[in-house]
Amino acid sequence: MPNAFHYSIGRKLIQAVSGAFLVMFLLLHGTINFFSVIDSFTGKYGSVAADDKIFSAGDGLFKLGCDFMSTSFIDIMVPVLALGVIIHILYGIIITVKNIKARGGLKRYEAQSVAAADSWAAKNMFVLGIVILGILFFHLTHFWAKMQLPEMFGIGAFENNPYLLLNATFGKWWMLLLYIIWFVAIWFHLCHGFWSMFHTVGWDNQIWFKRIKVIGIIVATIIVCLFITTGVNAFLQANGIIG
Ligand code: HEM
Repeated sequence: MPNAFHYSIGRKLIQAVSGAFLVMFLLLHGTINFFSVIDSFTGKYGSVAADDKIFSAGDGLFKLGCDFMSTSFIDIMVPVLALGVIIHILYGIIITVKNIKARGGLKRYEAQSVAAADSWAAKNMFVLGIVILGILFFHLTHFWAKMQLPEMFGIGAFENNPYLLLNATFGKWWMLLLYIIWFVAIWFHLCHGFWSMFHTVGWDNQIWFKRIKVIGIIVATIIVCLFITTGVNAFLQANGIIG
């Protein structure tokens, strides 16, 4: 007897649930990063207390946010997050391959049908997913490898001042540009993914169809704006243009 997960809806549900979890992560991560922009306005950009304690009164908001990301609760969440990413990628690949097969291979693009338009979106999601994943690995070498990796596994040198990492990463214009390309890819991926998530759970009637599209665009825009302002602010700080 085939169970629900043999059907396309089961696969898409897994994709939707893991996607929703990643959206939550992005909202939290984007908000903590945005604290560095607030620090610029309060004159606390770069403030790291000399006492080396976590949650020290002398720390800037962004540093406090990073301290929160190194608490035990988050340490437990990291493997869950990694699992969420892996499941999302695996099912993304499975759904894309099944879509291509179901629509008669790559030639399906020659037909001007709803199915063709549909699979264009699916293919787009896959390509965007690859771009996002590629740059994610690069991103992890800039922050995670210098903060959580030494802290959790004792590998490499730990950097206690996250503002220095912000400046070192975003101080170069080409790096800022690469990150912005990454954020734009995430925006497109989220806009379609958000809608697709609700479509999968059946919230796609006449009224909600348009509303969910708009809500998806708003959520994706908020997330991406948090990241872009963080990057641009760090670029301006690193180059002494503000601060
Ligand atoms: C302005 C943009 C960004 C900055 C400044 C930034 C900064 C950081 C920092 C400081 C860490 C180390 C952990 C922490 O204390 O938070 C980290 C980890 C991480 N970042 Fe980012 N990040 C940015 C964008 C992104 C985006 C767009 C994604 C996903 C698509 C992402 C995914 C991750 C992941 C998966 C980790 C490792 C897990 C974790 O530490 O929670 N980051 N990032």
